[in-house]
Amino acid sequence: MKVLTLICFLGLAFMSGCSKSNNEADPAVDIGGESRQKTDRQWWKEGVIYQIYPRSFKDTDGDGIGDLKGIIQELDYIKSLGVDMVWLNPIYSSPNDDNGYDIDDYRAIMKEFGTMEDFDAMLKGMHERGIKFVMDVVVNHSSDEHEWFRQSRSSRDNPYRDYYHWWPAEKGKPPYRWSYFDEKGEAWKYDAQTDAYYLHYFSQKQPDLNWENPKVRQEVYDIMKFWAEKGVDGFRLDAFQFVSKDTSFPALPAGYEKDVRNVIKYYGMGPNLHKYLREMYDEVLSKYDVFAVSEGAGSSFEDAHSLVDADRKELQMAYHFEGVDLAGYGGYKLADLKKSFTDWDASFAKKGWISIFLANHDQARMVSRFGNDSPEFRAPSGKMLNTFILSMRGTPYAYYGDELGMTNINFDSIDQYRDIAAINGYKKALADGEDMDLFMKKLNFLSRDNGRTPMQWDDSEHAGFTTGTPWLPVNGNHDLINVETENRDKSSCLNYFRKMVRLRKDNLVLVYGDYQLLLPDHKQIYAYTRKLAQEGMLVLLNFSSGNAVATLPKEISLGDVQINNYDQVRIDGTTINLEPYQAVIFALK
Ligand code: NOJ
Repeated sequence: MKVLTLICFLGLAFMSGCSKSNNEADPAVDIGGESRQKTDRQWWKEGVIYQIYPRSFKDTDGDGIGDLKGIIQELDYIKSLGVDMVWLNPIYSSPNDDNGYDIDDYRAIMKEFGTMEDFDAMLKGMHERGIKFVMDVVVNHSSDEHEWFRQSRSSRDNPYRDYYHWWPAEKGKPPYRWSYFDEKGEAWKYDAQTDAYYLHYFSQKQPDLNWENPKVRQEVYDIMKFWAEKGVDGFRLDAFQFVSKDTSFPALPAGYEKDVRNVIKYYGMGPNLHKYLREMYDEVLSKYDVFAVSEGAGSSFEDAHSLVDADRKELQMAYHFEGVDLAGYGGYKLADLKKSFTDWDASFAKKGWISIFLANHDQARMVSRFGNDSPEFRAPSGKMLNTFILSMRGTPYAYYGDELGMTNINFDSIDQYRDIAAINGYKKALADGEDMDLFMKKLNFLSRDNGRTPMQWDDSEHAGFTTGTPWLPVNGNHDLINVETENRDKSSCLNYFRKMVRLRKDNLVLVYGDYQLLLPDHKQIYAYTRKLAQEGMLVLLNFSSGNAVATLPKEISLGDVQINNYDQVRIDGTTINLEPYQAVIFALK
């Protein structure tokens, strides 16, 4: 199952359309924080990002696959959420071994998704609505069907040979490298045509690009400029912590891959990563008004800081996976969640900026993993989790469908899965003689396909996603959980999400305010304050299916309720009784 939890090491970069550079603060506003400088205010810190898996959002031509015209159709819906930025998973031309994370032409749109004209119209439509657009940049690897790789593999003296990592067979077998998606778990693939092995950290059809080659880097910067010239506002840099490699490929300790952290330790933050990031900044990011975020943040707070420290002129933001990886098969402990988010906040309290999320396209559904997807508790726990991500310090990422409280789908046969991680993981587990019953249970709970089922627009046969056959089945619960129904219901997850986004946007204290954990040992409640100058808020989140009592420190003086996912909150002096999964935010007096 490591394959399922390890795949999330990306990076983003943004660009905005205004004239300031990406690291230049808005000097007009004093955010008044005691611990941060006045100059820290930035649009990309204050915005909420909505992530769309384009394959699953809206299909307009009946082929069962979402498309750009579908996104255009739903721009008003996206706007209605109150979000400021949209990040789309890759939309480039691709043979789709890994749903677009295997690119064969970086300047063309995937034919299933539409055309460049559609792209231009989509971007225009977003900008007209004040929404910025974040492009996924997948350049740790390309597709094996990219012209560069076709050339590279054709002969040892082809000019493109050094665009990829090759190990000539006469040197013997290369030192073992584990691969995320390979059915044998091997990252070196033998290629008879030139009697050599090529490296692929992901699938065999995703050969790793050789970043040590300056021509490769220049190609990437040119591609980024192509999209920046079109007006994209940002870039998310996929698996970027892996791009720089020790090309002597030293042997690694046997069994290193059994601990997921080792993969990051040995593959991540390679010797020239900072040099390449600075080069990218000088060549691209500094020339446009863009914001960049990297998938993955190394193995320590220091690594993470080194990526986003403004003085280094590299990236603006990174995201780590410690929080999202906590909820494995068998659940998670609230104490671990509190510790992880509190430690990361502390580390970035004075300098730097992080991302806040509990789900994305590499994870199962947020409410099924971190909340409770039973009919009784799905809605309150979904609202509670959105209260959490939208009230923490850091830029929040909301994954499509989580605003509705969409849940995992219940696949029980391997034939139902479409994700290469699931399919090849299954083959490997079978070959390794694993307990397949257990494997299937874990897959059922954790598979990425859970988070990729089509958006639920209405209660019709395919949830209004397509008139054809959806590429991945629509979740059976779309009769209850869908945009149309939830739009009508004032107390739905959807309307709560909108309210919570509004609350964040109206209150800078929720963006920049100092975070302090309260009741650290409480088994059910996650409580914290946010404080900025004279303003303060108290966030109380019951992470359990039982009633829970919070006894607040005497110095807390409660003001008005700002948001509540129940109709009431029971307060008795300094004691607050929370209903199952209740989330309440109070102003502090
Ligand atoms: C990380 C992406 O988030 C994931 O979806 C993808 O499979 C790998 N990188 C490979 O590109």
